[in-house]
Amino acid sequence: MKGEYDHFMLKEIFEQPDSLLNSMRGRIELSASSVFSHVPTEEIADGTGGPGKKTTPKQVRFNVPSFPRGLDKPRIVLGGLSEHLNTMNRSRRLMFVGCGTSFHAAVAARGFIEEMAEIPVDLQLASDLMDRQCPIFREDTCIFLSQSGETADTLQALRYAKARGALCVGVTNTVGSAIARETDCGVYIHCGAEIGVASTKAYTSQIVVLTMIALAMAANKNDKAARSEEVINALVSLPEIVRKALQLDKHIQSLAKELYEEQSLLVFGRGYNYSTSLEAALKVKELAYMHSEGINAGEMKHGPLALIDSNLPVIVVCTKTDAVYPKMVSVIEQLRARQARLIVLCTEDDEELISQKDKFASLIIVPSSVDILQPVVNIVPLQLLSYHLTVLREFDVDQPRNLAKSVTVT
Ligand code: M6R
Repeated sequence: MKGEYDHFMLKEIFEQPDSLLNSMRGRIELSASSVFSHVPTEEIADGTGGPGKKTTPKQVRFNVPSFPRGLDKPRIVLGGLSEHLNTMNRSRRLMFVGCGTSFHAAVAARGFIEEMAEIPVDLQLASDLMDRQCPIFREDTCIFLSQSGETADTLQALRYAKARGALCVGVTNTVGSAIARETDCGVYIHCGAEIGVASTKAYTSQIVVLTMIALAMAANKNDKAARSEEVINALVSLPEIVRKALQLDKHIQSLAKELYEEQSLLVFGRGYNYSTSLEAALKVKELAYMHSEGINAGEMKHGPLALIDSNLPVIVVCTKTDAVYPKMVSVIEQLRARQARLIVLCTEDDEELISQKDKFASLIIVPSSVDILQPVVNIVPLQLLSYHLTVLREFDVDQPRNLAKSVTVT
């Protein structure tokens, strides 16, 4: 049921604080001393700060009923993988396979998986893997991502990898789906039923689950303990941060009014947020039927810069939590030098960019998380943008033309 919402998609976007929590429930054990940064002070419901009290985020300590405490160090418990983590850690390659939004979730998580697992990570579009008959070996672990668990291209790739002896892991939302049944093991994302054809809450939950898989693989590595603790604490804070990002809805609706008659929209991102640019552009094209391209900003000078003029709207994802932030600032400068119509997405602690507000066509200011989880926060206003563009262009939000929720043919 849509309840108070006009469309399932909007409901599913707004459900994300809960769906993210459900993806983590029962899978995180906190240390007795876990301290949470990245928590918006006014939104802490169960903390020492208390609702409405001013506390310093860096010192906030609060109880999260969903997550038990008590160990020396926090840890991730993924029951479905526990017997397979050793095999995964001994693999010669981790190959992530999916289509559309599911593939973008793997793009988002790749850097963190490489960092934690220290194993080469390969990303494959399922259809392309099959077109190429990509070599796969017994020493590989192949991870199949699919919200529905029924996507024909992904299922075909799974059968292909299984026949070659690889360990096959499923990351799906649908209990008992074909991919869940045919993989050797797996993790459900548990984001709840997703009805809108455009995938929203499944995307953010997929990133969270992939992050947890990377953490589980690094559980016995002492040199990763501090980083793991930082990310686990950020996971716990994430639902509240996403709740705060959702408050941008009115601002995004106004932005959509400025953009809905445009023919094209570019989205530049880099590092962890290359995925954000791909995913935002996919949402805009599939729902609003507006040409949109997600571009890796590192490639800007190798072609896309020729498109830039003062009319074409360009969203630049430039969040400070990412190691490529200085490079993205430089991208903004280069685009500005060409009079680009810039919509900049930055974090709320970015005084430098916020002080230049008047120089941009628009500024989207989001709360901060940790680098690997920042794409989860950043996509929220861009999901909302695609939603409002679609409503203003009077297209069907939940059933875009020519598309199906489960693509069961290749
Ligand atoms: O069910 P799956 O995750 O396997 O679906 C894959 C794609 O068909 C899907 O993500 C598609 O790209 C969405 N409609 C995007 O919003």
